[in-house]
Amino acid sequence: MYYFIFFALLFLVPPATLTDAGCDFPAIFNFGDSNSDTGGFWAAFPAQTRPFGMTYFGKPAGRASDGRAVIDFLAQGFGLPFLSPYLQSIGSNFTHGANFATAASTVRLPSTSVFVSGVSPFSLAIQLNQMKEFRTRVLEFSNPQGNNYLPPTDIFSKSLYIFDIGQNDFSGGLASLGIQGVKQYLPQVASQIAWTIKDIYDEVGGRTFMVFNLAPIGCFPAFLTELPHNTSDLDMYGCMMSYNNAVLDYNLMLKDTLSQIRDQLPGATLVYVDTHSVKLELFQHPKDHGLVYATKACCGEGGGDYNFNPHVFCGYSKVIDGKNVSTSACADPQNYVSWDGVHATEAANKILAFGILNGSLFDPPFPLSKYCDLQPIG
Ligand SMILES: *[C@@H]1O[C@H](CO)[C@@H](O)[C@H](O)[C@H]1NC(C)=O
Ligand SMILES: *[C@@H]1O[C@H](CO)[C@@H](O)[C@H](O)[C@H]1NC(C)=O
Ligand SMILES: *[C@@H]1O[C@H](CO)[C@@H](O)[C@H](O)[C@H]1NC(C)=O
Ligand SMILES: *[C@@H]1O[C@H](CO)[C@@H](O)[C@H](O)[C@H]1NC(C)=O
Repeated sequence: MYYFIFFALLFLVPPATLTDAGCDFPAIFNFGDSNSDTGGFWAAFPAQTRPFGMTYFGKPAGRASDGRAVIDFLAQGFGLPFLSPYLQSIGSNFTHGANFATAASTVRLPSTSVFVSGVSPFSLAIQLNQMKEFRTRVLEFSNPQGNNYLPPTDIFSKSLYIFDIGQNDFSGGLASLGIQGVKQYLPQVASQIAWTIKDIYDEVGGRTFMVFNLAPIGCFPAFLTELPHNTSDLDMYGCMMSYNNAVLDYNLMLKDTLSQIRDQLPGATLVYVDTHSVKLELFQHPKDHGLVYATKACCGEGGGDYNFNPHVFCGYSKVIDGKNVSTSACADPQNYVSWDGVHATEAANKILAFGILNGSLFDPPFPLSKYCDLQPIG
C-alpha cells in the first residue's frame, strides 16, 4: 500500500521541470520595440485592431504582424511558452521570463508624448527599470523552486537576455533630420544598449546576452513611400541605398561597441546577431524562400508597388477629403515579407527565427544547439 502511494505520487510530479525542457536557458528576458512586442503596448494603450493576428492567433494578439513574432518562434524553439508582456496584469505567467518590449519604443528617452507622435513612453531605460523591479519582486514573492507565476529566485544568471531595439531611434529622425542628422546621435544609441547590458550584468546577474542588429529599412514599403529619395537611389531590388548604407554603418558601429564592452563582462557571453542579413536576403530574393512580394505590404491601402498609405495604417480607416479610406489585408500573407509596411509577416519572422536558431547569424559563433535541445518551430 505504502509503495503504491509512493509510485502514484511520482506520477503526479509535474512531468517537466525547467531544465528537463531541454534548454540551459529556462527563461528569456526581452527588451525591444514592435518587432518583439507580444502585447505590452496594447496593455497600456487602446486595444490592437484586426486584421493583426489573423494568421496564427485568429485575433489581435499584441504582435505587430499577422501571426507570431520572432521572439515567439525563439521561445518555441527553446521549448518555452510565449513570453508574457511585463505590462500585462491579467493572464500573464512569468515563470519563463518576461517581455519588456513595447511597440514604438526607443533606446533614447522620448522627447515627445505617445499622444503627440505615437512614441512609446517605455524606452530602454524604463524597460531596464522594469527588469530590476521584476527581479526585486521575484526575490520577494517567489521560491527557490519558483511558483505558479514566477520563476525560481536563481533564474537571473541562467536566463537569456535579448535586445531588439533601435529601429525607432534610427527611423524616427529621418524625415526631420535626414541621414546626416540621425548619424549624430546613433553612437549614443549603440552605447546605451551596451551600457544597459553592463547594468544587467552588474545589477541583475545576467550572463548571456544577444543583440539583434538593425533591419534594412530602405526596403520597407512604409519608408519607400514616406522618406525623400529619388529613383537613382533605388538599387536593383527597389531598396533605397542611402538609408540602407546608413543602417550598415550603424550595424558596424553597434558590433564594434559590443566588442568593446565584452572585456568588462568576465564570464559572460555577448552575441551580436546579424538578423539584418536574413531580412535583406528576403527583400532581395523573396522567391528563393517561398515568398513572392518584398517591398509591397500585405496590409495597407492604395495598392501599387508598396500598398502603403502614410495617412492610414493597417487596421484603421480614416475620412480623407470626405472619402472613407480604409485599409485591408491581402488574402495570402504567407507570400509577403512585409505585413504592414514596417513589420514582417509571420512567414518572414519564421525564416528569420530559423536562421537565429540554426546558429548562422551569431558573432562570435555561439553553439545554441549545444545549450538547447531545440524544438521544431511549426
Ligand atoms: C505557468 O507556466 C508554467 C510553465 O508552463 C506552468 O507550469 C504553470 O502552471 C503556469 N502557471 C499558471 C498559473 O498557469
Ligand atoms: C538624387 O539623390 C542623390 C542623393 O540624395 C543626390 O546626390 C542627387 O543629386 C539626386 N539626383 C537628382 C536628379 O535629384
Ligand atoms: C469606413 O469604412 C470602414 C470599413 O468599411 C468602416 O468600418 C468604418 O466604419 C467606416 N468609417 C466611416 C466614418 O464611415
Ligand atoms: C540557417 O537558416 C538560414 C535562414 O533560413 C539559411 O539561409 C541557412 O542556410 C541556414 N544555415 C544552416 C547551417 O542550416
